[in-house]
Amino acid sequence: MLIYGLMKFVELVPSRYDKRMESMTLGNHGRAHDLMLSRIKPGSRVLDVGCGTGSMAIKCVDKGADVTAVDASMQMLDIFKRNIPMSPAAKKINIVHCGSVAMGQLLGSERFDVIILSLILGELPSDIRSKTLQLCASLLDGEGRMIICDELWPKRLWKRILYHLLFVLLFIPNFVLTRTMVRPVVGIESQLTQAGLKIVAETSLFSGVLSILEIEKS
Ligand SMILES: C[S@@+](CC[C@H](N)C(=O)[O-])C[C@H]1O[C@@H](n2cnc3c(N)ncnc32)[C@H](O)[C@@H]1O
Repeated sequence: MLIYGLMKFVELVPSRYDKRMESMTLGNHGRAHDLMLSRIKPGSRVLDVGCGTGSMAIKCVDKGADVTAVDASMQMLDIFKRNIPMSPAAKKINIVHCGSVAMGQLLGSERFDVIILSLILGELPSDIRSKTLQLCASLLDGEGRMIICDELWPKRLWKRILYHLLFVLLFIPNFVLTRTMVRPVVGIESQLTQAGLKIVAETSLFSGVLSILEIEKS
């Protein structure tokens, strides 16, 4: 919620998305991408769900990965296509315009070593989030790893109280700016368990506002 309302606002102008995210998070958006990138090896088959303007996908390809990048917004993907460098590596990017649930029909026969979900889960209603996680689990190779970067609903009581207060305070400005209900991801652990997944590592950034979860099949 601390970043979600502003993030949805920033998404309204895709051409400025990356720069604004970087300044809004005081550089932590880029730091989170670098941390996720450190888990990518040359030759990895990577699926980036909710790839946005493709900044992460392009970095993965530069590192030698084969990338399939999915997003529901054509405006975001237009910026992505403009950002792809004219290099042979660019041929390793497969851009798919579809929603995270519909990708099952398009990619069902493929398997990935790494699946990235960076700042998308909080934008999804709970049932779509569950279906997306289940689908990702089915697309993940047996030895593969999922990486989630997001703002999670806090576990500590004092932080939960603070978040509830902020939610009440920010609800109206958020709604006026973005016309959506935005809040951090609630109940991720149980949704991962239902999808047959488990968290194997967790890193906090931006004073705990952003979490990076590394996930494997259980
Ligand atoms: C905040 S942006 C994150 C972009 C990028 N992953 C990043 O780390 O900066 C969220 C992206 O998720 C996409 N998105 C939202 N709901 C989606 C869905 N159901 N299926 C696919 N993409 C979705 C939006 O279009 C947007 O590009």
